[in-house]
Amino acid sequence: MRFFVDTADIAAIRELHELGMVDGVTTNPSLILKSGRDIAEVTREICELVDGPVSAEVVAEAAEDMIREGRHLADIAPNIAVKVPLTWDGLKACKALTDEGHMVNVTLCFSAAQALLAAKAGATFISPFIGRLDDVNLDGLQLIADIRQIYDNYGYETNVLAASIRSVNHVSECAKIGADVITAPPAVIHAMASHPLTDKGLAQFTADWARTGQKIGG
Ligand code: E4P
Repeated sequence: MRFFVDTADIAAIRELHELGMVDGVTTNPSLILKSGRDIAEVTREICELVDGPVSAEVVAEAAEDMIREGRHLADIAPNIAVKVPLTWDGLKACKALTDEGHMVNVTLCFSAAQALLAAKAGATFISPFIGRLDDVNLDGLQLIADIRQIYDNYGYETNVLAASIRSVNHVSECAKIGADVITAPPAVIHAMASHPLTDKGLAQFTADWARTGQKIGG
């Protein structure tokens, strides 16, 4: 399973990248705002750090404007995946940018029907938002399973990029379902290493070791 990091925070990306945890990065307008950086500048820096796909999102609403913005973003680096919203205009932009040879990530997907359209428009990635569905008492993980089944039924090559990940459980459930990629905030990836029984066991081993009076390696 590929791990993308959902942030525009260079220091956080660098730390995870050094551990081999970063196969790509996703950003969005809210994450650019949070970074306080210029979109072209911070996106270029991320692309220099990470070899895998780096999603940068258009903000226009009309297809022709999205295509223009998408070309501009794609010029930043060869590993840019242009992110377009799952609207009818977004699908038009997806088709045009894909035909030009760009990677396209279709974002803000909340239904299996939307995901089917994105695959038909040639999307490289479809981003179903798990956490935001859970927020309104719908089942985000069920959507990942539904899209996985539909894409497998017909051999669509669009990658299922599970997004809006809020918990460690979201990540492990996506891995069980067979999502191709997850994009998660750095804090969730860090939290994956934690377990209360690991902490408890370590405390016990440390205490028992102190009672042996021994040292390893002199
Ligand atoms: C995906 O690419 C989005 O940037 C992201 O996963 C949205 O997550 P949120 O719902 O936590 O904002």
